[in-house]
Amino acid sequence: SSAQIGVTGLAVMGRNLARNFARNGYTVAVHNRTAARTHALVEEFGHEGRFIAAETAKEFVAALERPRRLVIMVKAGEPTDAVIEEFAPLLEPGDMIIDGGNAHFADTRRRERELREKGIHFVGTGISGGEEGALNGPSIMPGGSKESYESLGPMLEKISAKAADGSPCVTHVGPDGAGHFVKMVHNGIEYADMQLIGEAYQLLHDVAGYSPAQIADIFRTWNTGRLDSYLIEITAEVLSHVDAATGKPFVDVVVDQAEQKGTGRWTVQIALDLGVPVSGIAEAVFARSLSGHAALREASRGLAGPKAKPMGESEAAAFADRVEQALYASKIVSYTQGFHEIAAGSEEYGWDIDLGAVASIWRGGCIIRAAFLDRIRAAYDARPDLPSLLSDETFGREIAEAQDDWREVLIAAVRNGVPTPGFAAALAYYDALRAERLPAALTQGQRDYFGAHTYRRTDREGSFHTLWGGDRSEVSA
Ligand code: 6PG
Repeated sequence: SSAQIGVTGLAVMGRNLARNFARNGYTVAVHNRTAARTHALVEEFGHEGRFIAAETAKEFVAALERPRRLVIMVKAGEPTDAVIEEFAPLLEPGDMIIDGGNAHFADTRRRERELREKGIHFVGTGISGGEEGALNGPSIMPGGSKESYESLGPMLEKISAKAADGSPCVTHVGPDGAGHFVKMVHNGIEYADMQLIGEAYQLLHDVAGYSPAQIADIFRTWNTGRLDSYLIEITAEVLSHVDAATGKPFVDVVVDQAEQKGTGRWTVQIALDLGVPVSGIAEAVFARSLSGHAALREASRGLAGPKAKPMGESEAAAFADRVEQALYASKIVSYTQGFHEIAAGSEEYGWDIDLGAVASIWRGGCIIRAAFLDRIRAAYDARPDLPSLLSDETFGREIAEAQDDWREVLIAAVRNGVPTPGFAAALAYYDALRAERLPAALTQGQRDYFGAHTYRRTDREGSFHTLWGGDRSEVSA
C-alpha cells in the first residue's frame, strides 16, 4: 500500500481533485462505482503523476497508506451515506474520510458523530472553485478533528489556491460540520453577489440604455478597482459573448429563469433558525425562485408600470458611476450578513471559527474570491470581536461615501420600475441598523394589545403589560 490519498467518485470534480493531488507529487488511489471511469482517468491523465487504479472498494482501501486518507466526491445526501456505508467497515481507527461534496452541515455533524464512535475521522470539507479550481487550486474549508488536520493540512495546503500574498487558501475551520457550514454561507454570499451584479446589469441596461457589450466594458473597468473579483470578471465575459446561431448577445438568448441546487436556500433556512437577518441573501434566493415562476410572470405581464425616460450620454455615464457605488455598498452588506451568520453558527455549535481566517481562505480559488476579502481579513485580524463588518472604520467610511449614490440609484430603480430587491434589502438593513428608534416598539405594543405578550420599557427594568381592555393601567408582568 503506497498511496498517500485516495479519491472515490470520479465525476469532473473528483477527477480534477485527484489530478491536482497527483500533479503535486502525491500517489493517488482512484476509484469509481463504474470502473470504466477509473481506467479512463488513468489512461488520459496517467502521465501527470502516480495513480493507482482500484476496481473494488477493498482494492481501493488496500492501496492506501495508513492512517488512510480517503476523499469522497459524490452527490450530497443519500449517495454520500451509501459510500460511507460501503467504506467505513473496511477502515481502521485513525483513518480519515474526507467528504468534499456540498453536504448539509447537519448531515456532516451526524456522520462525524457516528464515525467518531468507530475511531474514524470524518472531515466534512467545503471545496470551492468549480472544475477549474479543483484542478488548479480550490479554496478548501475542512471541518473535523484538529488531529485529522495535522495529517491532512500539509497536503491540502499544497493543492489549494494561493492568495496574492502566497498564503494557502485552506485552514482548519473548526470541528465537525464547521467546514460545510462555512461553505454553505460562502454559497449564500455567492448568490447575493450574483444577484447584486444582475441588478447592476439591469439598471445599466434598462435605465442607462447601455447594450450588453457596453456593460461588459463597464464591468471590465470596475474590475480594475475595489470591485476586482472573479464574479465581476466572468460577468464581463458572459456579457460580451455573442450567440453564434443568431448573432445576438448571448445574454439575450438565454431563458431568464435561474436555477439552484440548494446551498443558498440552506443558508437562509439556517439563518432563520439562528435568528440572523440575512435579508440580502434571502432576496437573492427569492429572486431566483421568482424568475422560475413562468406562468405567474406571464399572467402578470399586463400589470401597469412607469414609462422609462431614456438617458443622455453624460447622464448615463454619471449613473453608471453611481451604480458602482450602490453595488459596492450592497456587497459590503451581504458579506456583513454572511459573516454574522458564521459567527452565530460558531457560537451555537461551539466551533470557535476565526472569521479573519475564513476571509483569508476565500481570497483565492473560490467563486467569491475578491480583492475586497483581503480587507475583510484585515478588519477581523485587527479586531476579532468586531460586532459587524459595518462597525469596521474603513467599511463604515466607504459606505458613508457611497450612500448618497446608493440612494439615488434606488430612487431611479423605483421610478423606472426596475426590480432591485438586493440593493433595496441591503440599504434597508443599513438604515435599520443605524436607526435611533425602530417601529419594533409599536410591534411590541400591538403584541401586548392582542395577546398580552408583554413589553419592556426604556426607563425601567422588568416586563410589563397594559390592561388594554380595562382602564389601560400598566401592571408588572
Ligand atoms: C463553488 C460553487 C459550487 C456550485 C454552486 C452552484 O463554490 O465552487 O459554489 O459549489 O457551483 O453550489 O450552486 P447553484 O447550482 O445552487 O447555483
